[in-house]
Amino acid sequence: MVKNEAVLERLAREILMVDDHNRPLIPEYETIIGKGFPEPLPPSVERRDVLIIGAGMAGLMAGKVLKDAGYNVTILEANDNRIGGRVKTFHSTPDGVAPFKDPRQYAEAGAMRIPTTHPLVNKLIDVMGLRGLARPFFNVDVSKTDATKQRFRTWLKTNGVQVRNQAYNARDLPEELRTLGFPVGPEYREKTASALLSDALAPLNALIAPGQPIEKQVEGWKQVIAQYDAYSMFRFLSESYPETVVQYIGTLQNLTSRFFLSFIHSFVDTFYISPGTQYVELAGGNWQLPYAFLPYLQENIVMDARAIELQWSSPSQGLQGPKAIHNGRPGVYVRTLSEPIVKRGIAHSKPRIEREFTADYLLVTIPFSALRHVNVTPDFSYEKRRAIMELHYDSATKVLLEFSERFWEWNETEWKKNLGGEYRGHDSYGGGSVTDNPNRFLYFPSHPVEGSRGGVILASYTWSDDASRWDSIPAEDRYNFALKGLTDIYGPGIKRYFTGFGKTESWMENFYAFGEAAVFAPSQLTTLHPHIPGAEGLVHFAGEHTSLKHAWIEGALESAIRSAKEIHQRALKQSGL
Ligand code: FAD
Ligand code: ARG
Repeated sequence: MVKNEAVLERLAREILMVDDHNRPLIPEYETIIGKGFPEPLPPSVERRDVLIIGAGMAGLMAGKVLKDAGYNVTILEANDNRIGGRVKTFHSTPDGVAPFKDPRQYAEAGAMRIPTTHPLVNKLIDVMGLRGLARPFFNVDVSKTDATKQRFRTWLKTNGVQVRNQAYNARDLPEELRTLGFPVGPEYREKTASALLSDALAPLNALIAPGQPIEKQVEGWKQVIAQYDAYSMFRFLSESYPETVVQYIGTLQNLTSRFFLSFIHSFVDTFYISPGTQYVELAGGNWQLPYAFLPYLQENIVMDARAIELQWSSPSQGLQGPKAIHNGRPGVYVRTLSEPIVKRGIAHSKPRIEREFTADYLLVTIPFSALRHVNVTPDFSYEKRRAIMELHYDSATKVLLEFSERFWEWNETEWKKNLGGEYRGHDSYGGGSVTDNPNRFLYFPSHPVEGSRGGVILASYTWSDDASRWDSIPAEDRYNFALKGLTDIYGPGIKRYFTGFGKTESWMENFYAFGEAAVFAPSQLTTLHPHIPGAEGLVHFAGEHTSLKHAWIEGALESAIRSAKEIHQRALKQSGL
């Protein structure tokens, strides 16, 4: 049980995004994304220089806001050919390199679904003029003739039992199939795994219900955090259900791989990943969201510049790295290195270029797992160092396979004509299937790619320990393994439509991400998070890991606006304004 009132109060307000006077922060943040700060730097004031490490969503958003407000911004990006970080699409490039056989096909390696309930990323889509590209992403498959009708025609397959979501949800199944082969007691057979999870979470959801006055919600969150921060998801469910029910819920609700991680993380994720949530995606790929910043920031981004050392000052604490001097006063210093070309298997070598930068302020947006490898002088505070060392990062791995025909969309007649055998198609668009084979979670494209008969299936999307099972397999071998898991549900006949092209991304193996996202281990919300977003001298911090919307673009944007505001307020104060 966590007892520190001040910590609980602050965390509750951060989750709810309300200030100490119960005012919501989001409307102000939306205005800043749309119109910039209400008071930019007056022309009479010296233009301050800001260095930003990382050209992901947080670095780009903060960079634009600060540039628009009159700052000189320089963004240092380790990657030599791509911005956007964890928003990454496998798509054809103008130089003719295509990820799939059909060059029109593309697929998301990272962020794929944008909840319509995430206001900042939706505001950004509007401000960047991308709304015309936004279209629904169907987490649940929909009717081919009426996209507002969810069909639930995709599959669940566990313990060798395969049923459609529709029949499972309607409980319209013989007794032995009703719980998908899980040996759960009769009292748990009438409800779906999702309903059993909702039952267990209901008392907590009542405490924090959004309809209540904000003070009540703050109190509710304080109670939830106080009681459950030390809980793992496994412990929470085990206090509600017998072990087999816990395994049943975990397998179907994508919780087993993260059973040992923070309960509160998985609880918060239930708000954003549910059949009731609506999502959008960008036609042509979500990479267009970070790239929409390029016209504003092109001249400010330095590519192939991996930060390997930083020095900083804190005038108020009398701290100063020896090189952290800018325009003759205490500032910040960053040394970067270009990447060794051998990394991409090219025979000739290129000289590794070191570059040095100084500025008035530094904004670090890279994951703490990446920051762990950056030399820092002087040391950050004890608490910040502990957070950089200990913050848990989750794994996530995707395996994408291209097919020349979208067999999953076929109705029974089309399936029989082309494939024969037992009908396993959906006769619907989008959505996903769930299996206890290693593929675990499968997603189907929400929309056809214009002019193409084929499609790319996300044949396996795994997290945590489920992802580790894929990370041990060399990337080029993952496709056959993923195809095997797919034929286990759809039958071996579908192999004839596999084009032989696939793409895979292990985010734990990714040298630019060092993991999928921050996901707390038990107790890290109260012990580490209070030390994560705060500035250290002239160094500020942003990135999804500094927000309480881990693993969402929205969290990266919240952090960008918060940190840009902090820097701006500091500059105004230093200028005596
Ligand atoms: P990043 O995007 O990681 O940006 C950091 C940048 O810093 C990168 O460009 C990196 O190359 C660079 N960098 C790293 N080290 C250095 C260094 N030493 N020096 C210089 N530069 C460096 N969000 C959603 O909203 N919807 C989803 O459906 C969704 N799905 C996801 C699925 C997966 C598999 C993953 C991995 C993420 C998903 N997310 C999703 C989360 C979302 O992508 C992230 O929260 C967000 O993109 C993070 O932005 P960021 O700026 O904090 O970090
Ligand atoms: N936002 C990502 C998605 O939509 C990931 C969510 C949580 N990830 C996690 N490892 N818990 O798929």
